[in-house]
Amino acid sequence: MQKTMKTIAVIGAGQMGSGIAQTIAQHGMDVLLADVDLTVAEGAKSAIEAAFGKLVGRGKLEIAGAEAAIARITPIAEYAPMAAAQLIIEAATEKEAIKQAIFTQASKVLAPDAIMASNTSSIPITRMANFSPDPARFIGLHFFNPVPVMGLIEIIPGLATSAETTARTRAFAESLGKQVVEVQDEPGFVVNRILIPMLNEAAFVLGQGTASIADIDKGCRIGLNHPMGPLELADFVGLDTVLDIVRILQKTTGDAKYRPAPLLVKYVEAGWLGRKTGRGFYDYSGGTPVPTR
Ligand code: 3HC
Repeated sequence: MQKTMKTIAVIGAGQMGSGIAQTIAQHGMDVLLADVDLTVAEGAKSAIEAAFGKLVGRGKLEIAGAEAAIARITPIAEYAPMAAAQLIIEAATEKEAIKQAIFTQASKVLAPDAIMASNTSSIPITRMANFSPDPARFIGLHFFNPVPVMGLIEIIPGLATSAETTARTRAFAESLGKQVVEVQDEPGFVVNRILIPMLNEAAFVLGQGTASIADIDKGCRIGLNHPMGPLELADFVGLDTVLDIVRILQKTTGDAKYRPAPLLVKYVEAGWLGRKTGRGFYDYSGGTPVPTR
């Protein structure tokens, strides 16, 4: 039953797609790293090379290993080469229409026994499977940021996903050195269902003036022994992504408890999206993050 995964296509060369591509290449498989704009995919490869440079400098990676891994990554901007992949992973922005357009294009080249997976944070897998040629070979494969460091992958079979697809996907995830949890196709799966309301609640707490940004984060870092406070983590994930997931939870469950915090909405409307734009709850322009309130 097990078919070897040799070539993996990753669609979307942003934060998650790059991290996924890096991790796959480090584990000996070839990666086609796709983005709509080739320069974005090439830029992501250069950023991965720079990350490898740092790891080599700190003695965490051998030069030969880094060079071999970087040579396994091919930036692309079209779908045709993905016909060679045993697995296509969509890691685009968390907007359903964009993902559907990607699945429709990728479906035209998906090999007859290849798997199509989505790294969605919260969009129902069963619904998106309709945009693939064979829902039995469609599955959720949810990585965590930063992908090379985080040890978990959630695997989410949709209603029509076959047991073989689930087993092959689990074997692939474990071959990356990750722990796997298998989760039902319910809104937010497990981790984001619990995490995202916490990040949203931190924005409510800030908006109500209960404490400063620094104290909210310090409270959770020390009081809960979390590596990052919730506002720091929201900036790290991207405030637009946090808001997109809150809205998906709200829409798919219809439960008012998932309403977005007004301050989170305001920050996103201001274009203050967190680390990636240099400003979110913290200002990153000077290097060291400075709380904005
Ligand atoms: N490749 C390989 N290794 C890397 C790396 C990379 N690109 N970047 C960092 N590392 C390694 C470092 O070498 C270091 O290794 P060492 O401990 O052996 O020396 C280790 O990772 C930690 O890196 P740093 O020392 O630079 O940084 P910190 O100790 O401050 O940790 C952090 C940074 C790992 C991000 C930590 O703060 C953390 O775990 N934060 C919480 C992250 C989290 O919760 N992520 C989940 C977000 S939710 C999500 O992704 C789901 C989505 O759907 C929204």
